[in-house]
Amino acid sequence: MFFHKKEIQNQQQLKQQVAQAALDYIKPGMVVGIGTGSTVNCFIDALAQIKHKVELTVSSSDESTKRLKEHGFEVVDLNYPNKVDIYIDGADEANKHRELIKGGGGALTREKICRVSSEKFVCIIDESKLVTRLGSFPLPVEIIPMARSYVAKALVALGGQPIYREGFTTDNGNIILDVHNLEIDNPLQLERELNQITGIVCNGLFAVHAADVMLIAKNDGDIEIIK
Ligand code: 5RP
Repeated sequence: MFFHKKEIQNQQQLKQQVAQAALDYIKPGMVVGIGTGSTVNCFIDALAQIKHKVELTVSSSDESTKRLKEHGFEVVDLNYPNKVDIYIDGADEANKHRELIKGGGGALTREKICRVSSEKFVCIIDESKLVTRLGSFPLPVEIIPMARSYVAKALVALGGQPIYREGFTTDNGNIILDVHNLEIDNPLQLERELNQITGIVCNGLFAVHAADVMLIAKNDGDIEIIK
């Protein structure tokens, strides 16, 4: 019991360390895109230390918007700024090519929109997220509710096992299927294939637009940078 608690604390420390390291990428006057999740929550809290450097923020979820506003940041609609200088977000899984699985928190669609709208994506993770092959973490897919059955069959045809995320509605009013047992040898190709299935709003693979920089908090205390 005690060991379990200690483990959780350590992972939380790694999230705080990598969040702190990401501050180096924030330059005065930047418009900063903000992802979603517990690592990003650490980043938002850290960013408050250098709030004066941030011109504006855009956010990928109601949850992150709330936290940003609690710290006194101005959060604007993504359509408002001419450009977003940098996007900071976590991931559920990542490989050394900076390809990711995201959407564990269900914010994948807005996260992908923020990512493609940003000049640079810095992904912040702890070492536990780094894998040699993506797919142990079930791939989240956001679906228009009436397409659930059709899309589930299409996902089975691709070799996956889709599980409906019970009791969850996205910020866009849609549902999530978490797809288990996918063998993701080619993330780029699978992301494109999933993009072709009618009824899928967005899939959680970030390979077409992977991260530009990945910061990894290691158990030995180092921050590894992959770019
Ligand atoms: C939310 C996400 C998050 O980035 C992902 O789930 C990682 O979250 P955490 O930092 O809590 O481990 O994609 O949709």
